[in-house]
Amino acid sequence: MYFVIVLILFLILWTVAIAGLSFAPWVPSKKHDFERIFKLANLKPGEIFYDLGCGTGKVVIYAHKKFKAKSIGLEIALPFYCICKCKQIFNPGVNFKYKNLYKEDLSRADVIYFFGTPKTINEKLKAKLEREVKKGARIISYVFAINNWSPAVVSKPDDSAVPIYLYLR
Ligand SMILES: C[S@@+](CC[C@H](N)C(=O)[O-])C[C@H]1O[C@@H](n2cnc3c(N)ncnc32)[C@H](O)[C@@H]1O
Repeated sequence: MYFVIVLILFLILWTVAIAGLSFAPWVPSKKHDFERIFKLANLKPGEIFYDLGCGTGKVVIYAHKKFKAKSIGLEIALPFYCICKCKQIFNPGVNFKYKNLYKEDLSRADVIYFFGTPKTINEKLKAKLEREVKKGARIISYVFAINNWSPAVVSKPDDSAVPIYLYLR
């Protein structure tokens, strides 16, 4: 019995470690930046919003509650995914998937949000975005730029604020 519990705990922590290597470790976007993020997103009711690697789902729930968007969060670290699923009970309109973000078809997305690392964004995600994202979609990267793409807007209101990049396809 003790062995089974240790094994389950190990597997849960393993998914967190894999997620950290795959796209980014769990570091949540700051709540006080949500207004800036969604000003750039210009999200409208019924539009499809993605948070790639949604952590505990805060951004996804905000997009749904405040803008009535079809909000989708993808997460592969089990503890965070379980937190999302618990929150979904109180926010029935949101959609959390236990899914590797690189395997999701993003062609229907209107707004794609992520907080990755410079390496994973540029070496792994960028090509997928170039292949799949439809014309007119908005892509928002928290803190890190996408190399060789020209942002439509960079939001950085003061020295202490982190940059948030808006790209238009
Ligand atoms: C920097 S956190 C950002 C969390 C959330 N988007 C936010 O802004 O508050 C990155 C998240 O991506 C998740 N993640 C990493 N690799 C992933 C992958 N391949 N597919 C889905 N989620 C992944 C991590 O578990 C982590 O929760």
